Amino acid sequence: MSALTGDITLDPITAHGNGDLVDLKAPAAERAGLRAYADKLPVVALGARELADLEMLASGAFSPLTGFMGEADYVKSRDDLRLASGIPWSIPITLGVDEPAARALGPGQDVALSAGGNRLAILKLAEIYKVDRTREATAVFGTAEDAHPGAKNVTSTPPYCLAGRVVLIDDIPGRTFMQYRLEPRATRAKFRELGWRKIVAFQTRNPTHRAHEYIQKAALEICDGLLLHPLVGETKGDDVPAAVRMDTYEVLLELYYPKGRAMLSVMPAHMRYGGPREAILHAIIRRNYGCTHFIVGRDHAGVGSYYGTYDAQKIFDRYAPGEIGIVTLNFENTFYCAKCGGMASFKTCPHTDTDRLLLSGTKVREMLRAGEAPPPEYTRPEIAAILARAMRVTS
Ligand code: ADX
Repeated sequence: MSALTGDITLDPITAHGNGDLVDLKAPAAERAGLRAYADKLPVVALGARELADLEMLASGAFSPLTGFMGEADYVKSRDDLRLASGIPWSIPITLGVDEPAARALGPGQDVALSAGGNRLAILKLAEIYKVDRTREATAVFGTAEDAHPGAKNVTSTPPYCLAGRVVLIDDIPGRTFMQYRLEPRATRAKFRELGWRKIVAFQTRNPTHRAHEYIQKAALEICDGLLLHPLVGETKGDDVPAAVRMDTYEVLLELYYPKGRAMLSVMPAHMRYGGPREAILHAIIRRNYGCTHFIVGRDHAGVGSYYGTYDAQKIFDRYAPGEIGIVTLNFENTFYCAKCGGMASFKTCPHTDTDRLLLSGTKVREMLRAGEAPPPEYTRPEIAAILARAMRVTS
């Protein structure tokens, strides 16, 4: 940490934990042998979310985790937002199975993890423990209501957790956007190649709009490069599908960003809608991808009215400076103001709401469904056209 600027000078940029990026992929030469071995093991089938977690673990995006959490890490991350070692970690990462599956297995065993009928990883089963999913949801999301999509996912996950180190022995199936699917080692290499030292990451699960662009560009004014890093794992049913969102990001970068200053790459995690807790996880993940700065705007990773507008910014105060290892750049609610004649925020605009274009995502979806284009001050016309086309196809 530089005493003068408060910036973290990460050269080389370290991973979260002890500084080393985790790598849980078996070497190519060993894979065939391990696959033959895995064929003889008891098998646990992964759902889409566990598969996404496995991909994050294997690539090092979840460093320092080396597998699905054991009980000590589970309890500590649920209750204290840290791992048992004391390292910050805000959301438990578990592999849940039902009672019969748990009873059929025992610690010390190797277990094959499968997806789509293919055995793609080996879990070195170290521990089996039972958790209270309602308690977990309440701790992580502040609610266990089914109306909260992240809480519903947690409470519908079986309570027996299989914990231990994982080794990936085959490719993760069903991966999309391959030209943009850069793992942490690849993004780091790319940043080096581009000569970027201060890299700001932007998490998103929504189509891009002018407020996104404004805060990204404000951050770019003080950074060398932007990693536009959309989450492409499972999202809730009414979020815009990743394929449509990707079109919006591509067009935005192509038309409105200088070449060599912004890079698009996808982040395979699923969306938890965990607001503040997920903001911390998102920041840690981006550090692992090699970024030095991370944008947290209004209601980051929020859903409905479960979180306060800036809770996801305030929660970082729980940690000592430097503990998360990435500098957060906080942005206030941003909008177009007619009197300012441009994008602004409550911090910079002295006018009133009548001068401001404050549209909710729901309102914009309604407009698009009705064949109405959102105003260019809200969404670039090229982006609105992509969304309108996607709406026509799906409605
Ligand atoms: S999120 O679930 O991934 O956070 P979204 O894609 O909408 O949702 O937001 C991406 C990032 O932009 C988050 O950091 C969010 O806080 C920020 N953000 C979105 N809209 C605004 C806005 N109008 N003003 C300020 N920040 C915003």
